Amino acid sequence: MYSEKVMDHFANPRNVGEIENPDGVGEVGNPVCGDIMRMYLKIEDNRIVDVKFKTFGCGAAIASSSMATELVKGKTLEEAWEISNKAVAEALEGLPPIKMHCSVLAEEAIHTAINDYRVKQGLPPWEEKSPHHHEGGEGCELPDE
Ligand code: FES
Repeated sequence: MYSEKVMDHFANPRNVGEIENPDGVGEVGNPVCGDIMRMYLKIEDNRIVDVKFKTFGCGAAIASSSMATELVKGKTLEEAWEISNKAVAEALEGLPPIKMHCSVLAEEAIHTAINDYRVKQGLPPWEEKSPHHHEGGEGCELPDE
């Protein structure tokens, strides 16, 4: 059911932990399953130089956050903002359809952390392209806001 990549990132998640005095923090939760993800960013010259996460959630959520930290590390904020939940799932060599929403949590955690940083800098937060642009998956959908 799960790819080897998912199992690897679940069993050996990368970048677990916290950053002291982070430049941006994003905490998001899925109200349906109750899982929570927190992402910490260290930002220098508009670039993510370090990232750590803590996830209280299912295996797919842990694997997604681990992969998401690897994808955003070293990226500019603009590049990191463009990383979709689909890109996270593809980097994991796929997630079962009913687990796609777990990767949405990772995308949202990155976005929330970036906007936390922007607001702290006195900048306007970036807007989500569309609240429904997440791709793939059925069941356990995030409710409409
Ligand atoms: Fe809740 Fe995966 S994030 S089941």
